[in-house]
Amino acid sequence: MYLGIDLGTSSVKVVLMNDQQTILASSSQPLVVSRPHSGWAEQHPADWVSATSQALDDLKHRFPQELAAVKGIGLSGHMHGATLLDQSNQVLRPCILWNDTRSHVEAAELDANPLFRALSGNIVFAGFTAPKLVWVKRHEPDIFRQVAKVLLPKDYLRWWLTGEFVSEGSDAAGTAWLEVAKRQWSAELLSACDLTLEQMPRLIEGTEVSGFVRPALAARWGMEKVIVAGGAGDNAASACGMGVVKKGTAFVSLGTSGVLFAATDRYLPNPDSAVHTFCHALPSTWHQMGVILSATDALNWWSRIAQQSAAELTQQLGSILTAPASVLFLPYLAGERTPHNDAEVRGAFLRLAHDTERKILTQAVLEGVAFALKDNLLALQQAGSTLERMIAVGGGSKSPYWLKVLSTVLNVPIDLPLDNEVGAALGAARLGLIAAQGLEPLEVLTPPVIEQTFEPASALIPAYQHAYERYQQAYPALKTLN
Ligand code: XUL
Repeated sequence: MYLGIDLGTSSVKVVLMNDQQTILASSSQPLVVSRPHSGWAEQHPADWVSATSQALDDLKHRFPQELAAVKGIGLSGHMHGATLLDQSNQVLRPCILWNDTRSHVEAAELDANPLFRALSGNIVFAGFTAPKLVWVKRHEPDIFRQVAKVLLPKDYLRWWLTGEFVSEGSDAAGTAWLEVAKRQWSAELLSACDLTLEQMPRLIEGTEVSGFVRPALAARWGMEKVIVAGGAGDNAASACGMGVVKKGTAFVSLGTSGVLFAATDRYLPNPDSAVHTFCHALPSTWHQMGVILSATDALNWWSRIAQQSAAELTQQLGSILTAPASVLFLPYLAGERTPHNDAEVRGAFLRLAHDTERKILTQAVLEGVAFALKDNLLALQQAGSTLERMIAVGGGSKSPYWLKVLSTVLNVPIDLPLDNEVGAALGAARLGLIAAQGLEPLEVLTPPVIEQTFEPASALIPAYQHAYERYQQAYPALKTLN
């Protein structure tokens, strides 16, 4: 048996998988994000630990024998967060999350140093870890002085589970301190932020063993010797869950953030197109990724205002794709990464009229996210990736209407897996299996069974193309409204 633990932004999900890669059970516990100021997003690492323990306690209660047979655990987590520990391993402040854009000034400063793009292969985005540490140094100098270790969120869970300070390339690439081509920390980039190699965890591959579950925790869940694999950042973990590991394979994720992810067999940086070039979780493999900050987050924002659940709102649209809405929505609720790299722009509804009703606004929200992902597709194409079809994952892929819009806007077929709920957790469990058994990664990381394929609605492509062109024209105007 194997466990995959996915530390998501809105919940921790743990899946129990057998040797044949069948998911036997899962347990999920909610997490909250606190937003003390506009653009800020934080979580308490203690909440990750208690949510993960509760999920495991729940599995122990329901599947005691299976849990006792666990031999390997894989970890996945939301990326880029700054978890700061002091000398005695105490957490110094709430973790500053991936979608927190407070450090955009510091990000621009680091990005202006040509070493960052040259060695890390990426723009230093406001959400990345490095500028967060520079922000802490400036605004919370007492805390900065005490930082003994900087950990990514899932690596904090690893420390709690094993007592080891370890990370791996797919997540480490999102700090801006990794030499992504060499899969190693850069002492030079760390030093540009007044940090040293000693403050960083040791690096391994996602498919390797990082340590063993502490005896006290193993005893609590009735387990014996359990290895913990390197694991992956949540996007690379989802890719492992969906078999997106070979050149030419891709997925689109409609999660809190929206992601277009393409696997590559070499390091192909192209920071100017605001595409992310990161290590994959398997050795000698990389990936390119476009990220938008608000996907289901935009729909959830609208659902709070409309006072109806996201599922109710999308169901009102029915299942037949119509022409695009007259209203345009720009999903920049927390600024944007790809392609604009703009932490200060904010979202908008445009062209409201007397007859604009709730349903139209819901439609506009789904379309706005699809248009933002089209911007990402063009950025990935510019960076050299060809995406001929893609697998859909994430909570938003439960809406057939949304997938129809997306397929038509992107003009590519979208494959919906039979079970698209557990992508990152399944990927993590698979990495646990590979590490525990020393298996060949490509034999384990196979594609899922596809339940349905959404083909572009050819009759509507010109109308959606026209709507996308209007969408593109709106950003330069919004940009000036800061
Ligand atoms: C990727 C990113 C997000 C988070 C979401 O760069 O910031 O996809 O990993 O959890």
